[in-house]
Amino acid sequence: MTLSASLPLTTPPVAPEPLARWVAEIAAITTPERIEWCDGSEAERQIVMNRLIRNGNAVRLNPAIRPDSYVMRSDPADLDDAGSRTYTCSVDPADAGPSNNWADPEHMRKILPSLFAGAMSGRIMYVVAFCMGPLGSPMARMGVQITDSAYLVANMHAMLRVGDDVLARLDPGASWVRGVHSVGRPLRDGRLASPMPRNLTKQVCHFPEDKEMWAYGAAHGSASILAWKPLALRSASTLARDEGWLAEHMALLRLTDPAGRQRHLAAAFPPGCGKTDLATLTSTLPGWKVETLSDDVAWIAPGPDGRLRAINPEAGMYGVVPSTGTALDAISRHTLFTDTAVTDDGDVWWESLGDPPATGVTDWTGQRWTPASGRPAARALARFAVSADQFPGMADSWDDPAGVVLDAIIVGSRRSRAVPLVRQARDWDHGVLMGATLLTEETVNDSVTETTERHDPFGMRRFCGYNLGDHWQHWLDVGDAVREAGAEPPPIFEVNWFRTDHEGRLLWPGFGDNVRVLAWIADRLDGRAQGVETPVGTLPAPGAIPLQGTEVTPATMAALLRLDPMDLLAECEDDMRYVEAFGDHTPRRLKEELCRTRTQLRA
Ligand code: GTP
Ligand code: MN
Ligand code: MN
Repeated sequence: MTLSASLPLTTPPVAPEPLARWVAEIAAITTPERIEWCDGSEAERQIVMNRLIRNGNAVRLNPAIRPDSYVMRSDPADLDDAGSRTYTCSVDPADAGPSNNWADPEHMRKILPSLFAGAMSGRIMYVVAFCMGPLGSPMARMGVQITDSAYLVANMHAMLRVGDDVLARLDPGASWVRGVHSVGRPLRDGRLASPMPRNLTKQVCHFPEDKEMWAYGAAHGSASILAWKPLALRSASTLARDEGWLAEHMALLRLTDPAGRQRHLAAAFPPGCGKTDLATLTSTLPGWKVETLSDDVAWIAPGPDGRLRAINPEAGMYGVVPSTGTALDAISRHTLFTDTAVTDDGDVWWESLGDPPATGVTDWTGQRWTPASGRPAARALARFAVSADQFPGMADSWDDPAGVVLDAIIVGSRRSRAVPLVRQARDWDHGVLMGATLLTEETVNDSVTETTERHDPFGMRRFCGYNLGDHWQHWLDVGDAVREAGAEPPPIFEVNWFRTDHEGRLLWPGFGDNVRVLAWIADRLDGRAQGVETPVGTLPAPGAIPLQGTEVTPATMAALLRLDPMDLLAECEDDMRYVEAFGDHTPRRLKEELCRTRTQLRA
């Protein structure tokens, strides 16, 4: 296949030669009608939105209610991610580890061109340069995504740094990540544009050695915004391993105490365990404040002084529609929604907003809906995309190119029993063990809520691009590197908002009241808060967590912090089985740490 002579290939003046050549190569395979280089401007955003509206992909909401906002509907058959069709094409299968599907890179390199052949016929091929992290930050990484989805371009505009500013800095010599995406719906033989084009054949391939990603068939952003989870976590985790930093599934926040002292905390929770809620919480403790730096991903690296620093690789959120006040402010205007219901007066609506609207409602599949319809009006994972500068709660340092120094690391998950509200790890290795053995009881899937237990180390089970056992070793190595540079790695804590009584009722109010636990953590960092040493770490002393203004009684707090040695021993055995399943990849130091805990529990 040759590049059509009539193809108006535009090369922006700043595009480095290797980029222009690669774009031409992909165009020769996919044969788009034309190529558009995205500049990231507001004018471009309007053009793309108008195209989406004209093709029936997007609906403009009532500007009097929700200015400059749009809703788009996915095909119900297009699932949130292409998990089982996502392949890590590393040269060595062992590099993919048991949590990833491995495929032979040579084989995939042969298949992909035929899958993508002519895939963009009749469509526009967009070239979107993006920067993950603040422009000019030594921790930032750049990339370019080619896509034939205007929906993706619109979403990337909202939640990433894209366009000319990035292109201008794209160093031809330096490495940048390449992503190719097609919805797999060429417009040939008179085929018309469809509301949310996609193809039932889905395939996502990562070539970690080549820093390249290919995604076919998916329209939904989770699988196809390649800079998002696929790069920010999956590819970046591998890059981070090779370069000595961490790309993690973490919220990043700034905690300010009544004296004005600021701390930066990163929290790793599995999906659906409340990272976004934590990063955007409204404090219920007078004088204490939480501000957001990142709701979902943090990139962490030792800084010039050896201490760990963190940045948010994104510049906004592609989040599940929220129930919290802070996020509601942020999405009051200038927002792209996907798969929400739409009211007859032109606003969006979803179940967790509470009372159904007074007007009629069209559900996310486009059908009329009433509370009696017996099905949800909005998709369980309906999303919004919004830029960070619209969030009233963003910390002013959120896009500081130097990043923020991490004062503490938190891990956590959903546990109805055994795990206390909060505890501090003995040291870095013990904290890494806590992260490696995170077990969570509930995973929110696309349309069902399962209540199963599953291990989800550091919340990275679905996102780590390499062997999870090696990931734990990498965490240990990063701690060692910090020490070798003469600094101390931050203390690690584990939290659990989800402990229940014997009738299954939650013991802890959670949400805004979680700031009380953060306050204890801050006091521990100062050496002020009292702690009780136990075999599983340091717990708060009675009365150490401020409870004024809550209905939590001292007895409830005691129940939240109670340790049952039988439960904990059983937990140790389960953890040992789990970490040992990674064979040679399981760090010896983690097994030793587990043995230490077990010995102390038996004593
Ligand atoms: P991803 O963005 O998918 O990685 O997940 P996340 O960690 O940001 O969690 P998400 O916001 O998707 O889900 C949070 C869920 O936990 C929601 O159902 C919240 O209502 C619930 N949640 C968050 N914080 C708390 C809390 O403190 N207590 C209780 N009981 N529930 C909480
Ligand atoms: Mn997430
Ligand atoms: Mn989230």
